[in-house]
Amino acid sequence: MENNPYMPEIVKIEKVIKEAEDIVVLRVKHSFEYSPGQFSQISLFGIGEAPFGICSYSKNYLEFCIKSVGSLTNMLQNLKSGDTVGIRGPYGNGYPIKEMFKRNVIIIAGGTGLAPTRSAIQFIEQNRDKFGEVNLFLGFRSPEEIIFKKDIEEWKKKFNVKITLDKADSSWKGNVGLITSLIEKSKISKENSIVIMCGPPVMLKFTGQLLNKMGFSDDQIYISLERMMKCGIGKCGRCMVKGKYVCKDGPVFRYDESKLLED
Ligand SMILES: Cc1cc2nc3c(=O)[nH]c(=O)nc-3n(C[C@H](O)[C@H](O)[C@H](O)COP(=O)(O)OP(=O)(O)OC[C@H]3O[C@@H](n4cnc5c(N)ncnc54)[C@H](O)[C@@H]3O)c2cc1C
Ligand code: FES
Repeated sequence: MENNPYMPEIVKIEKVIKEAEDIVVLRVKHSFEYSPGQFSQISLFGIGEAPFGICSYSKNYLEFCIKSVGSLTNMLQNLKSGDTVGIRGPYGNGYPIKEMFKRNVIIIAGGTGLAPTRSAIQFIEQNRDKFGEVNLFLGFRSPEEIIFKKDIEEWKKKFNVKITLDKADSSWKGNVGLITSLIEKSKISKENSIVIMCGPPVMLKFTGQLLNKMGFSDDQIYISLERMMKCGIGKCGRCMVKGKYVCKDGPVFRYDESKLLED
């Protein structure tokens, strides 16, 4: 009998890391072959199931960064190590990692958009000699909403890392303003570069426009899209936009392809 593709595997939570008031990272004792940028469906019996980007790159475990917005994500915040969740995946197309080899990589992430790109950053850390210069541009709303603080400190030792906040307090000595203002001030060049970005739709829109203005062509830019999903495997049509399944043809799209999906 064929395996039921909707049947989750039940896995144990190994670690719960509180990243912000409403954000936790769940580490599960499980692994499968996957590419940075892919996602899994995570479920709790009696509550529901939803897609979450894999935010780590490891052969020994998977991590998911969960922001509380509704019934499932609220319940996931309360889990402890030793509890179990259901997991299906990996699904979708990830970042074009092979195309990124030998090129300069520019990663632009806003808020929890850092979660899926963190998987790509960890891949680059583990395969540093395969990539050129790496620039990270990270934007958060406020100091309290900065996630992956420990990782960011490590990344600063290896990559060019720039952070901006929408709103800061007096303790913040860095940039204040939109992520586009940070990119405009930087010295990044389109030469032999590839950009991956993830964040709220408004950030993706204005950052994409700015990159085009700076000379980056659409085929140098890849973005992760979030759309409502149900099955995650191209069967139910819930995620379909203009003939594309975001779950199967994405969630990572080349910028010119993603523009065709805009309303
Ligand atoms: C490919 C992909 C990767 C994702 N990765 C992450 C991740 O790494 N971390 C994370 O915290 N969340 C991620 N999400 C979003 C996550 O799936 C939703 O937050 C989750 O479904 C909410 O479930 P809930 O039952 O808690 O909330 P619900 O009660 O179902 O919804 C709460 C609110 O969130 C809105 N919402 C729900 N799902 C989506 C969606 N997919 N897109 C836009 N709005 C939505 C609803 O309209 C509602 O307003 C991802 C979504 C996709 C499609
Ligand atoms: S979520 Fe069912 S087709 Fe994409």
